[in-house]
Amino acid sequence: MKIKTKLLWCSSLLLLATLCAQKYFSNFEGFRSSLKQCAPYKPLQLDITFSHRKECLKIVCESQSTAETHINSEDTIDEIKIRGYNASSHTLLTKDGYYLTTHRISGGINSPPRKGKTPVVLYHGHISAGASWIIQPGSRNLAFTLVDAGYDVWLANSRGTSPSQKHISLDANKDIDYWNFDMAHLSTIDLPLMIDQILQETGSEKIYYVCHSMGCAILLAGLSDVPELNDNIEASFLLAPPTHYGSNYNPIFLLFPPILGTLWQDVWIRLMGGRLNTEPWAFTTALGINTKQVCTWSFMRCGICDNLLFALFGADPEQMDYNNLPNIMRKLMDSGAIKPFLHGLQINEACAFPKYDHGSSQNILEYGSSKPPLYNMTGITVPIYVFYGENDNLVSPWDAERLRNAIPEKFLRGFYKVEWPKFNHIDFVVAKDADILVYHKIRHIIQKLEDDNVCNLRQECNSSTKSETNAEVK
Ligand SMILES: *[C@@H]1O[C@H](CO)[C@@H](O)[C@H](O)[C@H]1NC(C)=O
Ligand SMILES: *[C@@H]1O[C@H](CO)[C@@H](O)[C@H](O)[C@H]1NC(C)=O
Ligand SMILES: *[C@@H]1O[C@H](CO)[C@@H](O)[C@H](O)[C@H]1NC(C)=O
Repeated sequence: MKIKTKLLWCSSLLLLATLCAQKYFSNFEGFRSSLKQCAPYKPLQLDITFSHRKECLKIVCESQSTAETHINSEDTIDEIKIRGYNASSHTLLTKDGYYLTTHRISGGINSPPRKGKTPVVLYHGHISAGASWIIQPGSRNLAFTLVDAGYDVWLANSRGTSPSQKHISLDANKDIDYWNFDMAHLSTIDLPLMIDQILQETGSEKIYYVCHSMGCAILLAGLSDVPELNDNIEASFLLAPPTHYGSNYNPIFLLFPPILGTLWQDVWIRLMGGRLNTEPWAFTTALGINTKQVCTWSFMRCGICDNLLFALFGADPEQMDYNNLPNIMRKLMDSGAIKPFLHGLQINEACAFPKYDHGSSQNILEYGSSKPPLYNMTGITVPIYVFYGENDNLVSPWDAERLRNAIPEKFLRGFYKVEWPKFNHIDFVVAKDADILVYHKIRHIIQKLEDDNVCNLRQECNSSTKSETNAEVK
């Protein structure tokens, strides 16, 4: 690792620490409320807990040898194969020169690959990648659950994630221009292309879409701006969709310096090289720590690594798989561009779902108005099922409620609060019981929609079974 990078990380850390301290001791709430359109669901809290330290230490003691084996491979395709499933990579080239790689899991022991399986695409959150869907061990993660149920599962990797970093002329590690894209590129160029590719490869006419966090914002933006996309998606499952947040109480969002729309924003983008990089743990590598080990050591795992996640996303020690924590730390984070993150901050301040704010002069060129317009979701015709967590400090229940009011009522087919009060933002991909609390419900709904389709095709049914799923479960 280069000295420059080390210095950059250390100074960023120092800066962040200074800012944190400063914010804590200054008139913090007053400052925020002057900028924000809506009230936080809860005041800022660093949700740290040592309640499970003893249990964690016991687990680490008992499983010292197995801890390493949870990290099978850094490569997603290898990892999928090692765990007994059939995997392949599919690459496509966008019109602006990005090579995108989608990982396909076409079958496994319980459901060997065959023609005619219904495709399901899983779209990850920001600064994460397709690998986040196979974090949980065994077959209880969402990807393998769906493969075992007979579906053809595709893991999206948006441009900028480690599997999708090639470009015809730009080098992601050297050229800041590579990272000059915002959510509109992901939703109007990449998503329709990727969906087309999957439909072509599988010969299917429709696809189910499950997303976590920003993957859901990409979908809703795409459905709003590319009307044809609505015809290809049979139903969508939105896990913690961050489209209308503003009531979140996440420390990153609350403590982030007020540089939006200022000169400092550009300085920061340049300083970071246009990207947010956690792959492969650039931060610890920069400090000279062997990343393979850092969260396997018991003193790190039980109290530091776990609390880092709790502080950032909400504490849920009961659902934390301490045995799998080193793997969680490796597979959850990847890399992404800064602009979608800044877009997130803009959404947070607007408390609505506007397009990316390029600054007034560029906005006029792009949108014909100095302020970015809101995404117009009135034309969406894809059935939507929303899942949100009570203890999610990024997408709070109030934020979920705002999304609910913004999508066409007719197409909101389910609005579920996960039945675990501490369910946080990342629990959707890491929680021990995510299968029982979320995945099985998704699988059941897809199964029911598929059964209804068969019955519609044969015209053997006489009641609209689809409307039954309209019930709201709280
Ligand atoms: C799927 O994987 C299994 C086990 O690795 C292998 O035996 C089988 O041939 C694979 N099927 C296809 C179609 O690749
Ligand atoms: C949103 O789109 C619909 C058509 O889908 C259109 O009728 C309506 O005027 C649009 N609303 C805004 C505010 O642009
Ligand atoms: C509708 O379903 C009921 C039983 O569920 C059946 O008795 C009836 O014949 C069906 N009607 C038609 C038109 O298929």
